[in-house]
Amino acid sequence: MSQNIHVVVLAAGQGTRMKSSMPKVLHRLSGHTLIERVLRTADALSPTTATVIVGYGSGQVRDFLKARPRVSVVVQEPQLGTAHALQQAETVLHGQEGTVVLLSGDVPLLRPETLQRLLETHRRENAAASVVTATVDRPYGYGRIVRADGRIARIVEERDASQAERQLREINSGIYAFDLAPLFDALRGIASKNAQGEYYLTDLIAIYRGRKLPVATLMVTNPDEIRGINSRTELAEVSRIVRQNKNEELMAAGVTLVDPATTYIDLDVEIGADTVIHPGVIIEGHTRIGAACEIQAHVRIVDSTIGAHASVNSFCLITGARVADGASIGPFAHLRPESIVGEKAKVGNFVELKKTTLGAGSKASHLAYLGDATIGSNVNIGAGTIICNFDGQTKHETSIEDGAFIGSDTQLIAPVTVGRGAYVGTGTTVRESVPPGALAVSAGKQRNIEGWVERKRGKTKGPSGS
Ligand code: UD1
Ligand code: CA
Repeated sequence: MSQNIHVVVLAAGQGTRMKSSMPKVLHRLSGHTLIERVLRTADALSPTTATVIVGYGSGQVRDFLKARPRVSVVVQEPQLGTAHALQQAETVLHGQEGTVVLLSGDVPLLRPETLQRLLETHRRENAAASVVTATVDRPYGYGRIVRADGRIARIVEERDASQAERQLREINSGIYAFDLAPLFDALRGIASKNAQGEYYLTDLIAIYRGRKLPVATLMVTNPDEIRGINSRTELAEVSRIVRQNKNEELMAAGVTLVDPATTYIDLDVEIGADTVIHPGVIIEGHTRIGAACEIQAHVRIVDSTIGAHASVNSFCLITGARVADGASIGPFAHLRPESIVGEKAKVGNFVELKKTTLGAGSKASHLAYLGDATIGSNVNIGAGTIICNFDGQTKHETSIEDGAFIGSDTQLIAPVTVGRGAYVGTGTTVRESVPPGALAVSAGKQRNIEGWVERKRGKTKGPSGS
């Protein structure tokens, strides 16, 4: 018998109960779409072919799957039920041999180990079909496993079940292994005479039993693993489980989460040991945080890299940025895409960086906007420095070389360069480049008008200020 594995994922349904304009399988859990999660689980089987059946919102799902060129996408139109959906895979699987592993696009917690065990059971029992089942407290909505003499006899859907069958607590997960040889012929024998007028894949079990084809079951011990997502409430519930698992994995690897219940860390995020994450922190996308960092409360970091021994104080937003070892960010800082903060550099409160490199040991401690700039090492950026990078039409670049000192309340009108070790006086508007080692000042000489206050008060007779 061929050992080839062919994965088919059913993802054509609209997911009516989601009340969404987006296909259900594109909703996300901790940064991954449902379909991505299911496909990653399938990857562990190293399948010969992988096919996703799409229908509702097929364009959107197809676009999303472009990132996976080895996945075949087949459209099911109209969507006449799960058996009809699987039938569509025949165009891909025609002439193939081996085992079909059928997955549901809306069952995201399934573990690769369970699929391995399903295949083991399937082979050991020489089965034509094997079904993953679970015993649950609230079976409502799921297909029930009906057994005769201990063996699976058929699956009955909630709406078609008798009062007695509805009491059964062993449910169908919608995850199966099928021997390819009899599959497509048998699928053609399925009718749509049921409460929903659909072609139910679950009817295949009774058909196989009728034909004396062996059917096996594998019962999972943790029913969470096969939870289907049909509504926003279920999405939130499953989301909580995914988050909890990720948090536990991080804590086991030596990361301190002060309050895991309020910590939101996406699945692809990596964090080094001895880093402390305070409450209300959200870390998303492809973010990497080094060892022994301190991430204070209410920080959001997206698609960024943070080195080791760095600290991010409360209320920072960091997206698409790189922060080197020992740097200090915030509180209330905003690092926008393509910003790089060098080793031991400091970005303080109300400082925004965009497409800007701040070199090692440099400091922008308070109230600044630094955009499209390359700033060298050991530069001091005074409070209230603004890089005027946009002239209304184009963005221009600014360069501030090593060791320069930019006095407070300076505007640098790009494109402009401040040379190595140069000094820009407080309140300067820098319109022309400053040579290395020079002092730039632009404000006029200060005038003091003696007695001005006294004279003004005399005129207005008002009280003397308050
Ligand atoms: C299905 C099973 C049920 C099982 C449950 C587990 C059937 C008839 N019922 O019910 O026994 O307990 O899953 O979660 O199989 N789909 C298509 N095309 C269609 C219809 C559905 O691709 O024409 C896809 C959906 O997008 C979804 C999956 O198949 O990913 C399951 O469909 P859904 O309508 O959610 O089935 P359930 O009612 O949950
Ligand atoms: Ca479902």
